[in-house]
Amino acid sequence: MIRNQNFPKKPFRSFLKFLILVLLLNNCSSENETPKKEPPPPPAVTVPFPEAMYVQNGCASCHGMEGNGRGTRTALLANLRIPNFQDKSTYIYGSTKEAIAKTIKNGVPGTYMKAYSHMRKVEIDAVAEYIQKMQK
Ligand code: HEC
Repeated sequence: MIRNQNFPKKPFRSFLKFLILVLLLNNCSSENETPKKEPPPPPAVTVPFPEAMYVQNGCASCHGMEGNGRGTRTALLANLRIPNFQDKSTYIYGSTKEAIAKTIKNGVPGTYMKAYSHMRKVEIDAVAEYIQKMQK
C-alpha cells in the first residue's frame, strides 16, 4: 500500500496553523485580563468598649449579661452569694463607680471574684461605669 505523503492536505494544514495561532493569541490576552472584582467585605461588627471589656474579661460568665448573677457559670456559683448588679442593696463592697472599680482591681480574696489588677485603669473605669448603668 502506498502511503499518502500529502496528508494532511494543504488547506487543512494552513487551517491548523491558523487555529494554533488563534489559541496562542487567545491565551495571551486572557493572562492580561484584569482579575474579577472581589465582593466588598462585610461591615465590621463593633461592640461598645465597656461591654466588650465586660464580656472579654469573663465578668458576664459569672455575673450575667444583665448583671443579675445569671451567667453561664451558674453551676460553679450555685450555692454561693453572687451580687445582683441591678439591685443596689445586694452590693457588699459599695455600689458607687469608685467602689466598684476598687473591687474589680483588688478582687474579693477567698472568693471566685479575682483581682483584675492586670486591667488598665481606663478599662476598669469603663466596666465600673457599665455596671453602674445596670442599677435600677
Ligand atoms: C468566676 C466568677 C466571677 C467572675 C469571672 C467575676 N466575678 Fe465578680 N464576683 C463574683 C462573686 C462570687 C462575687 C461575690 C464575692 C463575695 O461574696 O464577696 C463577685 C463580686 C463582684 C463585685 C462586688 C459586688 C458587691 O457585693 O459589692 C463586683 C463589683 C464584681 N464582682 C465585678 C466583676 C467584674 C467587673 C468582673 C470582670 C472583670 C467580675 N466581677 C468577674 C464572681 C465573679
